[in-house]
Amino acid sequence: MGRLHLGMNADKMAKMEVKTSLLDDMIGVGDMVLLEPLDEDSFINNLKKRFDHNEVYTYIGSVVISINPYRSLPIYTPEKVEEYRNRNFYELSPHIFALSDEAYRSLRDQDKDQCILITGESGAGKTEASKLVMSYVAAVCGKGAEVNQVKEQLLQSNPVLEAFGNAKTMRNDNSSRFGKYMDIEFDFKGDPLGGVISNYLLEKSRVVKQPRGERNFHIFYQILSGASEEFLCKLKLERDFSRYNYLGLDSARVNGVDDAANFRTVRNAMQIVGFMDHETQSVFEVVAAVLKLGNIEFKPESRANGLDESKIKDKNELKEICELTGIDQSVLERAFSFRTVEAKQEKVSTTLNVAQAYYARDALAKNLYSRLFSWLVTRINESIKAQTKVRKKVMGVLDIYGFEIFEDNSFEQFIINYCNEKLQQIFIELTLKEEQEEYIREGIEWTHIEYFNNAIICDLIENNQTGILAMLDEECLRPGTVTDDTFLEKLNQVCATHQHFESRMSKCSRFLNDTSLPHSCFRIQHYAGKVMYQVEGFVDKNNDLLYRDLSQAMWKANHSLIKALFPEGNPAKINLKRPPTAGSQFKASVATLMKNLQTKNPNYIRCIKPNDKKAAHIFNEALVCHQIRYLGLLENVRVRRAGYAFRQPYEPCLERYKMLCKQTWPHWRGPARAGVEVLFNELRIPEEEFSFGRSKIFIRNPRTLFKLEDLRKQRLEDLATLIGKIYRGWKCRTHFLLMKKCQVVIASWYRRYSQQKKYQKIKSSTITVQSYIRGWKARKQLRELKHLKRCNEAATVIAAYWHGTQVRREYRKFFRANAGRKIYEFTLQRIMQKYFLEMKNKMPSLSPIDKNWPARPYLFLESTHKELKRIFHLWRCKKYRDQFTDQQKLIYEEKLEASELFKDKKALYPASVGQPFQGAYLEISENPKYKKLKDAVDEKIIIAEVVNKINRANGKAASRIFLLTKNNVLLADQKSGTIKSEVPLGDVTKVSMSSQNDGFFAVHLKEGSEAASKGDFLLSSDHLIEMATKLYRTTLSQTKQKLNIEISDEFLVQFKQDKVCVKFIQGSQKNGNIPTCKRKNNRLLEVAVP
Ligand SMILES: Nc1ncnc2c1ncn2[C@@H]1O[C@H](COP(=O)(O)OP(=O)(O)O)[C@@H](O)[C@H]1O
Ligand SMILES: [Mg+2]
Repeated sequence: MGRLHLGMNADKMAKMEVKTSLLDDMIGVGDMVLLEPLDEDSFINNLKKRFDHNEVYTYIGSVVISINPYRSLPIYTPEKVEEYRNRNFYELSPHIFALSDEAYRSLRDQDKDQCILITGESGAGKTEASKLVMSYVAAVCGKGAEVNQVKEQLLQSNPVLEAFGNAKTMRNDNSSRFGKYMDIEFDFKGDPLGGVISNYLLEKSRVVKQPRGERNFHIFYQILSGASEEFLCKLKLERDFSRYNYLGLDSARVNGVDDAANFRTVRNAMQIVGFMDHETQSVFEVVAAVLKLGNIEFKPESRANGLDESKIKDKNELKEICELTGIDQSVLERAFSFRTVEAKQEKVSTTLNVAQAYYARDALAKNLYSRLFSWLVTRINESIKAQTKVRKKVMGVLDIYGFEIFEDNSFEQFIINYCNEKLQQIFIELTLKEEQEEYIREGIEWTHIEYFNNAIICDLIENNQTGILAMLDEECLRPGTVTDDTFLEKLNQVCATHQHFESRMSKCSRFLNDTSLPHSCFRIQHYAGKVMYQVEGFVDKNNDLLYRDLSQAMWKANHSLIKALFPEGNPAKINLKRPPTAGSQFKASVATLMKNLQTKNPNYIRCIKPNDKKAAHIFNEALVCHQIRYLGLLENVRVRRAGYAFRQPYEPCLERYKMLCKQTWPHWRGPARAGVEVLFNELRIPEEEFSFGRSKIFIRNPRTLFKLEDLRKQRLEDLATLIGKIYRGWKCRTHFLLMKKCQVVIASWYRRYSQQKKYQKIKSSTITVQSYIRGWKARKQLRELKHLKRCNEAATVIAAYWHGTQVRREYRKFFRANAGRKIYEFTLQRIMQKYFLEMKNKMPSLSPIDKNWPARPYLFLESTHKELKRIFHLWRCKKYRDQFTDQQKLIYEEKLEASELFKDKKALYPASVGQPFQGAYLEISENPKYKKLKDAVDEKIIIAEVVNKINRANGKAASRIFLLTKNNVLLADQKSGTIKSEVPLGDVTKVSMSSQNDGFFAVHLKEGSEAASKGDFLLSSDHLIEMATKLYRTTLSQTKQKLNIEISDEFLVQFKQDKVCVKFIQGSQKNGNIPTCKRKNNRLLEVAVP
């Protein structure tokens, strides 16, 4: 099946991916070869089962059995065409398209001429099948404007021929009444180039007479129904069917057939096919003339010789015919009354009686019509003829009338059945031959199978010496009286012994008592059944006699078409030789046909009629059984199965079953044949069950195939599960992988994104940091630069100023601007000079106490003047001090000390300033009174004075001598000079006195010292200031401690154990400067001061 792959386009290849087989979803068995058990019942049951399921096609190997469904099935759609296009024959359920496709591709790709042989009874669907084949081929072959026109013309030739050649019969509303073989021619690419149609023996007797319930050819009814009034008028016709004798009245209308519409279709088809308007016109004129011929009637007219001569009853019709066809009316009229017989240059004219006239009329009508039909075929051929001279590939489609068995079977049936006999013959020959060839081709041993060969029947009919047709011709040519009976007699003589010939009259007594066989009949056991033929009319029909007068009259017609239809009417071409008889003509054309078919690759469509009622859904088993029998279909299966029931090329076989074996599944690497061998060994198929051909495996029993199929089905289920499993796994895995991939992508994107973000952040931070740093650096640099600049500027400025100053200083003297200042300074100097000189003269005395000082002469000398005064005063004081002796210096030092201690503190002080400090007021050393005292005191006496000692108990004063030495303070009795108390200076802690103008003071003693036991001293002196000062100075120089001198109007004094407060109050002046003390209480001693 390698060739299947040739010329396949891509989408077809894609379709091929789904490996299907006829064995899939089969109803019954699609191929009868697989039928098990094989017998008639199972065969019919299988057909019925399939028919009931609308499966009208079934195979026997490559033969298609087609059962007429009698209703339109949706299996011829363009989609179906596509489905079957370029598909393996056994790949899809059986279909006429599969066969058409196989044939077409075989023609196109393998250069094999094809013929499609469609056989079957009348009404079995042959014509429909042929049309389906043609339309399929038209659909799948090349396209293009030119090609389409050719296709269209080829297809449109059908309606034209059907209108003229088909009629309604008892079996078929659209029965082909002629045989048709059409060669479709293709170029090397498989594009149609054109075609040639051959027609076989039109059943012309139908023109003048139709059996009951049947009609004349469609065209008559179509004209009358469909032509316009105007056109009818032109043709001199009337619409009423009943007006015409040739039109059988009982079934003029056919259910479901619209003659008027069909007429339009026909005219349209004629136009497409290429008929010129005038040609169409002529054709319809002839048709009209034929129709009108039937209306010519004759009446007898007695002649002088006693014989009746026929005369036309009503010449009106004749006149119209002649007007229509341009025939000379008198010529035609004469032709219906006389007959000229020519013999040896002598013309003898005899009159026709009425019966002969009618015979002549009908013969003329039949001839006109059948010749018109042949002309139509020729004319169509002219149109559809291939235009090129290149070598053509040919596909022939044979749609020939089917086997017919009627009640009355005549010459036509005989011829038709003979033709079918021949077709059966070629079927047997070709199928067996093909089968045989295949075995040889494949190198398989071939065993001969017995089958019925109808060659013997063919021989009965066509044998050149003893055949029925030869017999008939002999009778027709024989001089003397020839009748149908003499023909039968002859048959009885010659054929009596023939196995398939039956006759009552034969010498053989076999059928002498067979009442079912009338005397005027003979019966032939055709391959399809016994048929009884009425011998009546055989001779006549075989002779197909048309009186020469009529053909000459026709030739003379002023009508080009009619003239052309009767060439023998031309007196110039007069031919005395008898024209060939109808039988021999037919035999010759059948022989040609057979020869033609034998050169081609046959494809069979065997049509079966399911019922006689032209009804859908009815399956008449008996009827079908009969057809199967005579078509020899069972034998066909047997022959096919004799050797091997099933065969298949290795590749598809391996492809289909490879899953049954581990080694071949899923892939077999190596030659397909080896694969199949391995497969079959593995499956342990018995060796006698199969054989290996060169390219095909041959399986002997269908059982084995079914076993394979079962195993396959089972395995497929397992595989489906496995595939499902793997698919699910695969799907999940791919999904997973996809998700993983996606995840990776997303993750990478995300990572990229986040890194980008991070990077951008870092980048921007870096930039910020950088910019800050750069800014900082720049500012720093700027600062430095600015500083440098300023330094430079400053240096420049300083230098400039410096230079300026230098220069100015250098040049100043040269400028007048300085004169003012000079003058000013000079003036100032002069003023100062004058001032100082005047001051010299005005100097005051050198006495430090002189307050005089000259007035200042100028305001601006104020500070100088004051300063000078101060300096002068200081200088004067210095001068004054420099005159002092050491003694004087001491005195002044003491005075100064006193001033520091008491000035502004004690009211008594100012009075003391003018008094010189004498110290030794008492002349101790001199005064002998104090001799004792003097002895007691060996130290230098600093103070010797009389003081009042206040009694602490009552405040009464007692005089005492107060002595101060370098180290002690002594109190001695004034009178005696005895020392009362002696206190070392170190024990004197403090001297207290008031701020008043009194001489009262207290000497505080160190607690715990020897002197202190009697308590502190309260004393009063006139020289308090001097005494206090000297005490202070002596203590300082002796003990290096400053004596505390407290000046306060209230202080505490230690009296033995008690402390007594001494308070100074303002007293009367009565005691002079002496204060009066009064002991107020234990604690208080009031001192009244003046
Ligand atoms: N395949 C088919 N599908 C539908 N109807 C069909 C089919 N074949 C035949 N017929 C019907 O059967 C009738 C007879 O078929 P036809 O082909 O004229 O028969 P045959 O040529 O064998 O005498 C057709 O007119 C049509 O109605
Ligand atoms: Mg037909």
